[in-house]
Amino acid sequence: MNSLSPRPGMAQPEPVTPSARGLHVITWGCQMNVYDSERMSDVLRPLGYRAVGTPDAADMIILNTCHIRDRAAEKVFSELGRLRLVKEERATRGMNTVLAVAGCVAQAEGREILARAPYVDIVLGPQTYHRLPEMVARAARAAGAVIETDFPVEQKFDFLPAERVAPAGGAAFLTIQEGCDKFCSFCVVPYTRGAESSRPAAAVLAEARRLAAAGVREITLLGQNVNAYHGEGPDGGTWGLARLARVLADEVGIERIRYTTSHPRDMEDDLIAAHGDLPQLMPFLHLPVQSGSDRVLAAMNRGHTADEYRVLVDRLRSARPDLALSSDFIVGHPGETDADFADTMRLIRDIGFAQAYSFKYSSRPGTPAAGAGAQVPEDVKDARLQELQAILRVQQDTFNDATVGRVTPVLFTGRGRKPGQISGKSPWLQAVNVEGPDSLIGRVANVDIRHTYTNSLGGVLTEETDRA
Ligand code: 5AD
Ligand code: SF4
Repeated sequence: MNSLSPRPGMAQPEPVTPSARGLHVITWGCQMNVYDSERMSDVLRPLGYRAVGTPDAADMIILNTCHIRDRAAEKVFSELGRLRLVKEERATRGMNTVLAVAGCVAQAEGREILARAPYVDIVLGPQTYHRLPEMVARAARAAGAVIETDFPVEQKFDFLPAERVAPAGGAAFLTIQEGCDKFCSFCVVPYTRGAESSRPAAAVLAEARRLAAAGVREITLLGQNVNAYHGEGPDGGTWGLARLARVLADEVGIERIRYTTSHPRDMEDDLIAAHGDLPQLMPFLHLPVQSGSDRVLAAMNRGHTADEYRVLVDRLRSARPDLALSSDFIVGHPGETDADFADTMRLIRDIGFAQAYSFKYSSRPGTPAAGAGAQVPEDVKDARLQELQAILRVQQDTFNDATVGRVTPVLFTGRGRKPGQISGKSPWLQAVNVEGPDSLIGRVANVDIRHTYTNSLGGVLTEETDRA
């Protein structure tokens, strides 16, 4: 699954009772946005809002946006143009539609949105979701458009309702950290999501306990810099991610724990050790490296060299030999030469990635790299991206092929595309489809992997199915 590709709206449409109001959330971007969309739905639930599958059935539409790369704003305006038609058509049927824009584009371009799309009722930044009910009320009073994009001092998490609708399918995201102080040359996140902050461990554990009680088996801990987590512990001390993962495994009883996105610089010794002795920590780690050239890594302000990354991966693999790695790459950062790119290719060959996302550098206004000299021409970026993606594709296929013939525990998260099929995730985050009963959804069962496809695996359930 591409962590940055557009996604369908809400998890599962729910039946709309006559008094209920329809809510349609369109989510773009990373898992943090998926999590935020779920929480916005939770906040609106007491007001009677229930998820509906299409915008034309919705009394409120939220477009949760992502700003990380190219043409984010244009994409938002074109989607808003489409939603405007929906809103107008509903108005001809006498129905009001509250249109909200959330997420990082809202944060960065809030005023521009209200100027260019005056039919938008609410613009809210990522730190203000807990204020949605109040904003909805203000918008409903037709007091003009409402904009909330400050970074408030209080933590939004303290104001979000404790109750979450547990996702069907046994897997949930849980945001533990937000924001970033690393200021990579190319990245807007420190400007849109603000300074790094960690939720107190007690709040995270309470949320995890509720999820576990509702049948959640796998939790993915989320944060822009998740392994920089340094939350206040119930004991008054500061807890790192390793400590949190241990308690989630040993005391809360979470069977599968993942975390994303991590930074190589924050891969502390205790976290590496946890990969070795916590079987609940899944053997798949997204550890973006961006480039394999020391010059480019320095220009990017990543704070480590290519060899330091190699050593880190060696240490992780010594701790957990079946650990598979995934990464992000940027080609064409300002100043990147052919020799720099060759270094990136060499790093990829040295490490061997199970999966990766790769992007052409796109200039983000206000970031240090945007003004930097020696922008790389588009055709050079294209050629490098193709070469890079070709090798990453081969590595991904090699990794997937190696799972054929193995029996692997799969957490089934929903129905498959074909009738009679159910779909789930291997420990290495591969999508796995099998013929099987719906009763296995939300549970872990062993699968004999038989086939690989472009982005998924196929197999059969083994005799001894559920481990639960
Ligand atoms: N251009 C290209 N890719 C970018 N990313 C972040 N900012 C940019 C940019 N300006 C990529 C990085 C990051 C991922 C989430 O998106 O690879 O890890
Ligand atoms: Fe952006 Fe770098 Fe922070 Fe990641 S670590 S969110 S790439 S500034």
